[in-house]
Amino acid sequence: MSKAKTLFLALLLPLSLSLNLATGQTASPLVRYDTSYDIVSPVRAQHGMVASEQALATQVGLDILKRGGNAVDAGVAVGFALAVVLPNAGNLGGGGFMLIHDAKSGKDVALDFREMAPAAASRDMYLDAAGQVIPERSLYTHLAVGVPGTVAGLALALEKYGSMPLKDVIAPAIKLAQQGFEVSPTLAAKLAAERGHMERWPSTRAIFFKDGRPLQAGAILRQTDLARSLRLIAAQGKSAFYQGEIGKKIVAEMARHQGSITAADLSNYRVVERTPVSGTYRGYQVLSMPPPSSGGVHIVQMLNMLEHYPVRDYGSNSAQNLHLLSEIMKLAYADRSEYLGDPDFSKVPLQGLTARAYAAELVRQIDPERATPSAAIKPGQPQAYESDQTTHYSVADKYGNVVSTTYTLNMNFGSGIVAGGTGIVLNNEMDDFSAKPGVPNAFGLIGGEANAIRAYKRPLSSMSPTIVLKDGKPFLVTGSPGGSRIISTTLQTIVNVIDHGMNVAEATITPRIHQQWMPDQLRVEKGISPDTLRLLAQKGQQLAPSATLGRTQTIQMDAGGFYGYSDPRNPDGKALGY
Ligand code: GLY
Repeated sequence: MSKAKTLFLALLLPLSLSLNLATGQTASPLVRYDTSYDIVSPVRAQHGMVASEQALATQVGLDILKRGGNAVDAGVAVGFALAVVLPNAGNLGGGGFMLIHDAKSGKDVALDFREMAPAAASRDMYLDAAGQVIPERSLYTHLAVGVPGTVAGLALALEKYGSMPLKDVIAPAIKLAQQGFEVSPTLAAKLAAERGHMERWPSTRAIFFKDGRPLQAGAILRQTDLARSLRLIAAQGKSAFYQGEIGKKIVAEMARHQGSITAADLSNYRVVERTPVSGTYRGYQVLSMPPPSSGGVHIVQMLNMLEHYPVRDYGSNSAQNLHLLSEIMKLAYADRSEYLGDPDFSKVPLQGLTARAYAAELVRQIDPERATPSAAIKPGQPQAYESDQTTHYSVADKYGNVVSTTYTLNMNFGSGIVAGGTGIVLNNEMDDFSAKPGVPNAFGLIGGEANAIRAYKRPLSSMSPTIVLKDGKPFLVTGSPGGSRIISTTLQTIVNVIDHGMNVAEATITPRIHQQWMPDQLRVEKGISPDTLRLLAQKGQQLAPSATLGRTQTIQMDAGGFYGYSDPRNPDGKALGY
């Protein structure tokens, strides 16, 4: 990517009048910006790149690439390292999704290692005798824990698409767990925020607390039990977790506290290899995670809608553009509540939702001047507003492979429970099911029938690891944590790069919005101009100030090299290349 450093504002008024075919509106930029110079520069490299939410884990991935490992080797190493150095979201006791572009075969694969409901799970397991949701039961008890998938997912990825032995890619994580690392202010703040959920479990206190208080910034976090668990996995493979010593300790933990995961549940856990959801956007191919994630389906659906509009002419974060984004998000998230769930349990109309003809039908409902109230779009079941304590990382290697991974414990530190003697924090992913379909649970989360709890089912997710191809080759790897905001964050990253010509750093720092149909709110990050907000309010958008929306880890690549950026919304993250 050659970047001329000259500011060039071309007055293109007569040339730039373009007709919005969907609405008959014209978009008429006064100036068209020259996008060939950088306002903020990404990290540049020639041979490979890693971007993650923790600098130590990024370094682990980079070291593997430098040793000749491929993107999957590095991606698996980063996954194990984040379980140590990002204990609030990185994990062995949770689950996630990995999208891989395998350069040699040209194949794209989506690995689903989402947690699974144990055999004893049932539709009403979080309800009392009167049919009311029991507060916190699906979040901070042993019943909140889904059968973890991460160890099986990382092991399978390495076995099928990696080139290095498991023990070599786990070794850096073992070292970090054994030797310890310094707790950052970000991690200390998360520990303090989750204190109430964590301090009731002695096994958790023993690791994350000192003198009765959560570890403070600057303290050294050593995790010797976790180091031992990692050593067992390095030596015995995933069987150490699903059948061996670790599994036995998890089952014993469950038995001590009326949890429901059994030895058979662990033993039966399977990773599912799925075909990525695929769509095209302005000549690029967009691949993302299929159900049980809702992310890929709705990213493709929304891009299909956006293609009806001259988004570039509208301008990044103009009122016209944000209004359009808000309206298409409402339509997509309304469909999410109705149709999305585990495809192995309910029919998800994937082709229909991602069809261009359907998008053409949907955009007819959009009024360019007036927000449609969410209630008028579709009556019925509003859907869950999920937690944002997930993490994403992206890897690209010199061989042309890329890896896009999002994995999670659900909330920060999941259930807050460490399985005794393992050092492994257990997820609370069961809360991503609808505790009671159609009715808000204790946390205001609401979902549809397709996401009702069933034994062996996987809860609906928003995690959207995404790869964009140009002429069949990787062009962009991205993804984010952020619960339901993952989908809108990933969408805006793609649009910022493809439509607005931003480099990945600019695409990342640009303020974001989020609208998820219900509640009918357009959430806005700080940094969007008051003039724009006034115009949006005049169109009837229900504005709501928001905390940060998403935290992307993005890599772009072309013949000139790799360009990476770790979202500064998490100061602990880093993109590194060589
Ligand atoms: N637990 C958040 C998600 O899977 O979307």
